[in-house]
Amino acid sequence: MKVLVIGGGGREHAVCMALAKSTKVDKLWCAPGNGGIASIAECVDIKATDIDGVVAFSKENHPDLVVVTPDDPLALGMVDALEAEGIRAFGPRKNAAVIEGSKSFAKELMKTYEIPTAEYAVFDRSEEAISYIKKMGAPIVVKADGLALGKGVTVAMTEEEAISAVRDAIDGGRFGGAGARVVIEEFLTGPEVSVLAFVDGKNLSTMPSAQDHKRAFDNDRGPNTGGMGAFSPSRFYTEDIAAECMKTIFQPTVAAMAQEGRPFCGVLYFGLMLTPRGPKVIEYNARFGDPETQAVLCRLDSDLFDIMNAVIDGKLDEMDIQWKDDAACCVVMASGGYPTAYEKGKEITGLEDVKESIVFHAGTAVKDGKIVTSGGRVLGITAAAPTLDEAIQKAYADVDKIHFDQAHFRHDIGIKKG
Ligand code: AMP
Ligand code: GLY
Repeated sequence: MKVLVIGGGGREHAVCMALAKSTKVDKLWCAPGNGGIASIAECVDIKATDIDGVVAFSKENHPDLVVVTPDDPLALGMVDALEAEGIRAFGPRKNAAVIEGSKSFAKELMKTYEIPTAEYAVFDRSEEAISYIKKMGAPIVVKADGLALGKGVTVAMTEEEAISAVRDAIDGGRFGGAGARVVIEEFLTGPEVSVLAFVDGKNLSTMPSAQDHKRAFDNDRGPNTGGMGAFSPSRFYTEDIAAECMKTIFQPTVAAMAQEGRPFCGVLYFGLMLTPRGPKVIEYNARFGDPETQAVLCRLDSDLFDIMNAVIDGKLDEMDIQWKDDAACCVVMASGGYPTAYEKGKEITGLEDVKESIVFHAGTAVKDGKIVTSGGRVLGITAAAPTLDEAIQKAYADVDKIHFDQAHFRHDIGIKKG
């Protein structure tokens, strides 16, 4: 079978690697791919958001499956466009991807179906938003409504901070159209857990839990990033909590989307906070998370190609998906300066010395036969082991072998206390 994967980050490298393991997959393309993906798939020079380009390539090359991984093409309706041409695609349609693409949609859904989440209000005008902030007081959370590369959220400890976040988003156009509307939310506390699930419209099968590290620096300091590392499973996500989440959050969300005429097929990502008043939804993503996927998929024992087909055919209930008991840790090595300005084109050395971990490439390219940096998040060094402590040690031992100018990584991935 021939498979085309859309995207070019560490997550796509992990998805490609899992698909490459399938005995049924004999041809893999990735658009646009990256310097690491190029070693297991044929990279095709088409942007992940280029719907016409992906459809044209698919009509010419006839993949048996197209896996749409990133948020932007999902929100733009790439799955709908492929299906309209009779091409089999994995991922939610546009009307279901909105669960991530519009935070106000997600909040309204949760309110209507009584799915636990933070209290909130939605504003299109900054003056009204500011009055609300003054009424509620800080700490308070301001979120751009639309997709903002994971950077549209301000957890404001003071009213001034919240007000300036509103002004930047609505009046300053900091996130373009994505910030023209803001959601203002109650500040919640508790450990955060990411739970990804395969969903086929009506059935769901959760993957092992994971935890992300969004801040740029150790001890959760510095600006928010796309994610500086992840580990799986979470220490906080007990069987009792999992059962509660299944009953109060996961199944109700899948049922609510079906009820709304927006059946969700693909991977649904539940960003949860385990608050003193029970688990609540912080965010939904309509896709695999990055870098959670790198840590989670290396624990998958079943065939990802089969699972994706079961999702598309609405037959997830017939699958018995197996996961390894191992723990896994993924440490992201980023370009110095990320998530703001950084330089590209730095040569990466030491990759051949890595023996124990899998190195997922994110922002890399091949230049004159050498692997060089080409993005903010560059590599995700991922190790699995019987215990989390061993996985962390293995991953960091390999991080130490890899070098590029101004490489930056966190030293505390996996040791989160809350
Ligand atoms: P998001 O992009 O929605 O995942 O938000 C980014 C980060 O902001 C989350 O991972 C949380 O750490 C934090 N956050 C979001 N919403 C809240 C909230 N209501 N209360 C406290 N922290 C939050
Ligand atoms: N790691 C968070 C995300 O993928 O949105």
